[in-house]
Amino acid sequence: MSNDIGVAVIGAGMAGRAHAHGYRSAGTVFSAGLPPVRLVSVADINEDLARDTARRYGFERHDTSWEAIVKADDIDVVSVVVANHLHREIVTELAAAGKHVLCEKPLAPTAADARAMTDAVEAAGIVARVGFTFRRAPGISAVREQLRSGELGRPLYISGQYWTDYGADPQAPMSWRYRGEPGSGALADLGSHLTDVAEFLLGPVESVHGAALTTVVTDRPLPLGHVVGHAHVEVGDEREAVGNDDWASFSARFADGATGDLSVSRIAYGHPNTLKFEVFCERGALAFDVSRPGEFDIASGGLPGASNGFRRVIVGVEHPYIAGGMAMDATGVGFGHNDSFVYQARAFLDEIAGLDELPRNASFAEGLHNLLVQEAVVSSATHSTRTPVRA
Ligand SMILES: NC(=O)c1ccc[n+]([C@@H]2O[C@H](COP(=O)([O-])OP(=O)(O)OC[C@H]3O[C@@H](n4cnc5c(N)ncnc54)[C@H](O)[C@@H]3O)[C@@H](O)[C@H]2O)c1
Repeated sequence: MSNDIGVAVIGAGMAGRAHAHGYRSAGTVFSAGLPPVRLVSVADINEDLARDTARRYGFERHDTSWEAIVKADDIDVVSVVVANHLHREIVTELAAAGKHVLCEKPLAPTAADARAMTDAVEAAGIVARVGFTFRRAPGISAVREQLRSGELGRPLYISGQYWTDYGADPQAPMSWRYRGEPGSGALADLGSHLTDVAEFLLGPVESVHGAALTTVVTDRPLPLGHVVGHAHVEVGDEREAVGNDDWASFSARFADGATGDLSVSRIAYGHPNTLKFEVFCERGALAFDVSRPGEFDIASGGLPGASNGFRRVIVGVEHPYIAGGMAMDATGVGFGHNDSFVYQARAFLDEIAGLDELPRNASFAEGLHNLLVQEAVVSSATHSTRTPVRA
């Protein structure tokens, strides 16, 4: 590999463009030590989308197949940002070709797939990471630092939600997100993120119980055009059965003894994109809401008190990511979820270049563990007994 790093993105849909933006901006933040990043190609089977995304983000070319990226000699680093069921084959081939891989979450539809992928990237000796992008939100990282400082005592309980409404309209077009077994819907799409955030804060989940998976919108219209992300396009009269979950909820017990309740939805009316949580500790509590990603709330300082309660902290240059992480890196200037993709891309490129400034992205082993939690949730939802309420 020459000194510069040749980058490609496979998938030019909703998150593919966020990856393209991340690579384009990665060299503009933090230290100046990153080798030159060559933006080489964006690949998508939809050529118009591939061409448009490549042009917008300054990539040299576009391709119409992921195989072209595998074969290309001028590409060292690849983001895999396509539907989950395509990840395994693409990642395995990229690894065999010696390319470093940043694969979107969830790593694959099943833990067996994820295990095979983990083996393949280890055998190939490449750098392989998973896109659990919320780890990069400064507010979430600041909450983690606060928990690790021990100031509030031991974490006892987390209540977390990732509520979205992208599927609330029964006329929202059928797409890959609605196909698959129970557990491959809201749980895989949103629960993968929420579980990772919970484990990022409190450590590994040891067991789950009391899970429920519910499908409310049981069929959806077939689209007449290409669907990007959650976008609505014109639909026809033909409908296809929905195979997976709109709502998922479960209780978790963490290895360190804390417990939690997590709930996710793609039909939570009025919540376009709400990831929020509260963590209660022995001597205080912390809260976060992604609608204010550069902030968190904290309650501390002793009970009871005439003016006790939560107070807002605006994440600033003394917290993770802000200093050096934005063109104007002053406290309170604002931060958005797209910035997280820049930090994620930068951490990935840093690792490949042998730099050590930012925390590494999630490993494939963590991506595999995330799927093992999901499979435990599906098992709990399927096998646990319901206790009838007796009159
Ligand atoms: N980290 C995050 O915050 C985040 C956010 C959204 C999505 N994601 C993840 O990103 C992935 C993609 O999600 P999305 O919302 O961008 O999907 P999307 O449907 O918007 O885009 C996927 C793109 O892949 C293309 N594609 C399909 N088959 C292909 C093939 N064989 N070769 C090349 N391209 C192909 C499609 O044409 C489409 O444009 C999923 O794994 C999803 O879970 C992550």
